[in-house]
Amino acid sequence: MRGSFLSLPATLAILLLSTLTIAYRPLQFVKHTGQSGRADQAFSMVNYFNETTQQSDLYVHMWMFRYKSSNKGWASLGLGPRMKGALMFIIYGDPNSEDKGMTLTVRTVDGHHPPRPTDEMKEFYSGDVPEVEVVTAHFEDYTGDWYSEQMQAKPSHLGIADFIVRGYDRWGAAELGVSNETTKQAMIWSSNFRQDFEGDFSVDRAIDMHQFGLGFGFLWVDLLNARSDVAFFGAINELNDHTGISETAEPKPPTEDELKKGDEIIAAQIGGGSTSEVDNGTGEGDSKEAVPEDSGDKAADESTPPATDATPDSDTTTPGADDGSKVEEPVKSVKQWNIRSMMWHLHGFFMTIPFVVGYPLAVYLLRSPRTSAAGTAFNYHWTVNSLSSISVSIGALIGFVNSRSISITHQYIGILIVCALTVQLVLGWRHHVVFVATGGRKTWMSTVHVILGRVVFPVGIINVVSGLMLRHYGWPVISLCIALAVVEVVVLTLVVGQARKRRPGAMQKGPTAPTADEAEEYFQLGGDDDDEFSDDDDDETGRLNAEERVKKEAERDEQRKKLAKLDRV
Ligand SMILES: *[C@@H]1O[C@H](CO)[C@@H](O)[C@H](O)[C@H]1NC(C)=O
Ligand SMILES: *[C@@H]1O[C@H](CO)[C@@H](O)[C@H](O)[C@H]1NC(C)=O
Ligand SMILES: *[C@@H]1O[C@H](CO)[C@@H](O)[C@H](O)[C@H]1NC(C)=O
Repeated sequence: MRGSFLSLPATLAILLLSTLTIAYRPLQFVKHTGQSGRADQAFSMVNYFNETTQQSDLYVHMWMFRYKSSNKGWASLGLGPRMKGALMFIIYGDPNSEDKGMTLTVRTVDGHHPPRPTDEMKEFYSGDVPEVEVVTAHFEDYTGDWYSEQMQAKPSHLGIADFIVRGYDRWGAAELGVSNETTKQAMIWSSNFRQDFEGDFSVDRAIDMHQFGLGFGFLWVDLLNARSDVAFFGAINELNDHTGISETAEPKPPTEDELKKGDEIIAAQIGGGSTSEVDNGTGEGDSKEAVPEDSGDKAADESTPPATDATPDSDTTTPGADDGSKVEEPVKSVKQWNIRSMMWHLHGFFMTIPFVVGYPLAVYLLRSPRTSAAGTAFNYHWTVNSLSSISVSIGALIGFVNSRSISITHQYIGILIVCALTVQLVLGWRHHVVFVATGGRKTWMSTVHVILGRVVFPVGIINVVSGLMLRHYGWPVISLCIALAVVEVVVLTLVVGQARKRRPGAMQKGPTAPTADEAEEYFQLGGDDDDEFSDDDDDETGRLNAEERVKKEAERDEQRKKLAKLDRV
């Protein structure tokens, strides 16, 4: 045994330390442009098992170096071997902004295209999503010692994000999984230096692709040896290389030297409790981290990271943490107002009105006793339907322009609905032309039109609901929408049933049912849009007859359908 060669006090010290803490190797990733990659970013990680919650938390301290005060581009890292299914942490912002705020957004993606916030990706992954607590995300002036040969300059700013990924190994979408006990957790990083955010640094901002060529890479990360019994954000020394991380294979086991450094850091965490000690350990570059330049609020926030006695919880409730964490908090935050988001709401408006109001109203108008008696039923039916379809077209156009990719069910269903509505339009119109030309012959087109209508409506409502959910409308709005749809279905079923019963006698009753005023009003609303109608049928009676024939048609359809159903039974 190794201990037998050591003096008794030394053995005791080692024993004491190993019972107090588990072996900890500081873990850091540092990559500057030119170091086999195009990146200017770094991170450290501490793997902490919280006994209270019985889950593993990842304490991530992430840096993004900015040169010449550039406000362009982003930096990211992700848990997982490739973009698809990775839990990605992306930072961006403007170091010249007044509050020096930086955005941290938590995203994933279902393929190799730009990732989206996890709550927008529920169709792809609906499992456990670790909570991400952003302790701080902001820019500071760079005061360290790194000098970039490529840029012939030191960085001007440092973007700093401290965040805790609570229960990070619950994330289930990553291939190869995420484990709290692995020595080779697959991860990815990537960078972009070009994207101009045009002032919109919101958490759901669209981001461009990473740089071509060397702007991304793979990592194997030793999380097992990065575990610590105390929770803290590890320091980064940007003058050093990776530790506990390899870009090509499983990282080598920790060396004595690395573990010794780790022990010192942990000892400082447990012993000192002094806030200035907390974030250092690996070298000279750290001092600026512990004593940020800019201002009182942030300094207070930065210099009290969660040590043994200061819990992250208490940190985030300090007022100083507000500008860092409140705005960037990925899931629950109040969305910043931006054009894209407004366009989505508009898309929803143009889509919801037709399905919740327009189309049901059009069916009602076709079958309601008043309009059918006044002979305006068809007129209203197609006018309202056309207006609704124009609205859907505008909504679809907005949706199409605003979408970056076609990848979620909502979009696929939406496209199907638009196709079905086009078919509806053509069928309705063709049927009508044939109907009028042949003096009221029934066509297969009307049958299909009716059936397709009954299919498209509920599917449309489902997509309206899924859209409301995607935009995070609350349950009151969603329930209201569903309730309205249910009421409409019930009312329409009744109205259609009534119309069916009424129809045999409708011809005689027709002229007396509505008051003349009402009929007049309807005609005015209908305007002169029935040109098409009167092309073949110049006089009013002819049209009325045509109307009656439409109804008879429908009635016969219904009966045939009923019979068909009976046959099947
Ligand atoms: C562990 O989890 C509990 C419950 O969420 C929390 O109050 C506490 O701050 C956590 N401890 C640390 C060190 O993060
Ligand atoms: C990993 O998590 C499990 C529970 O999910 C826990 O029992 C185990 O101790 C954790 N391991 C480490 C190294 O934290
Ligand atoms: C932390 O930094 C202080 C001063 O910056 C230094 O005296 C101390 O040795 C450092 N601690 C470790 C563990 O490196």
